Amino acid sequence: MKKFDKNQNFPHFIHGDCFSVLKDFEAESIDCVITSPPYFREREKNKQFNLNQSLESYIDNILSFAREIKRILKNGGSFWLNLGDCYQKTSLQLIPTRIATKLIEDGWILNNDIIWKKASYTPTSYKKRLSSSYEHFFHFVKTNDFYYNLVGLDSKKRRPKVDGQIIKTSSNVTGINYLKIIKSSIALTEAEKRNAVLALEECINEIKEGKISDFRLLIKGHNKVSSENRKKELEKNGFIVIKSKYNKPSDIWEILPEKKSNHYAPFPEDLVTFPIIVTCPPKGVVLDPFVGSGTTCYIAMKNNRKSIGIDINKDFINYAQERCNKNQ
Ligand SMILES: C[S@@+](CC[C@H](N)C(=O)[O-])C[C@H]1O[C@@H](n2cnc3c(N)ncnc32)[C@H](O)[C@@H]1O
Repeated sequence: MKKFDKNQNFPHFIHGDCFSVLKDFEAESIDCVITSPPYFREREKNKQFNLNQSLESYIDNILSFAREIKRILKNGGSFWLNLGDCYQKTSLQLIPTRIATKLIEDGWILNNDIIWKKASYTPTSYKKRLSSSYEHFFHFVKTNDFYYNLVGLDSKKRRPKVDGQIIKTSSNVTGINYLKIIKSSIALTEAEKRNAVLALEECINEIKEGKISDFRLLIKGHNKVSSENRKKELEKNGFIVIKSKYNKPSDIWEILPEKKSNHYAPFPEDLVTFPIIVTCPPKGVVLDPFVGSGTTCYIAMKNNRKSIGIDINKDFINYAQERCNKNQ
């Protein structure tokens, strides 16, 4: 069954060429697309990208694929696209960057360019080249009013990091530098210094108690601010406190590539967890049109989201289905 039926069981797997399967999907029916199309150098594994295809037509194919995604994605939806690069005639081709640029020109909004830093990678055999150890994971949206809910992030992760006796925020702030800056400031009055120290202590206590995961202080004479409101606040109080409740990661994600799989390029589970929790509402539908080993659907299932996976290879569809049935 190709047509996407809202009443069926999830995860739902479809064997077929996603370029034709997606045509049967209703417009604006999907909340979140997370996918990794075959890489240019792997085009022989994909009928859509035949061996004689040039880099230009590979890029055009991804562009028309993205147009179909835009049609079926809800207006508040997210499109997460993982792409790999390759060398041709000794030069890196910057394929992910070229594609992202075309998608922006085509009307997509690029919300983040996440670098997946591979915690383990294959060393290069080339003497005059460094090993390649990262991939791009683009987060595109259709409009600025997109669904993004950090509340679903595991609250257990909002724990302070402890290094010996020292408490650190999620971005490794200890407060020690802030204290030095406040104490040695010539721009702050004595009263402002006392208040800034109290505010700093309050932030550190909230980090200890898990109420916030990070904070920043902007200090008069030390930080420059551009917004007029902040300039006024800095002038009035001598400092500004910015607190971050959620354990939001930076745009560099260090994740081990997945090893134990029947697939040649499986997503690591940690790569797709954040996109599913944060950009797919609990009753929403996640789609992976190049689902391979089924990681996207499996993690969607574990996080109580519906999902649809498409793959041209029947063996991968069977493997993904079995993986979700066995729940492992
Ligand atoms: C890079 S892999 C994706 C792996 C996947 N992210 C995972 O977690 O296992 C690309 C997948 O796309 C599939 N594929 C290639 N061409 C396709 C097409 N035209 N339609 C649907 N799937 C296709 C391949 O069989 C392969 O499993």
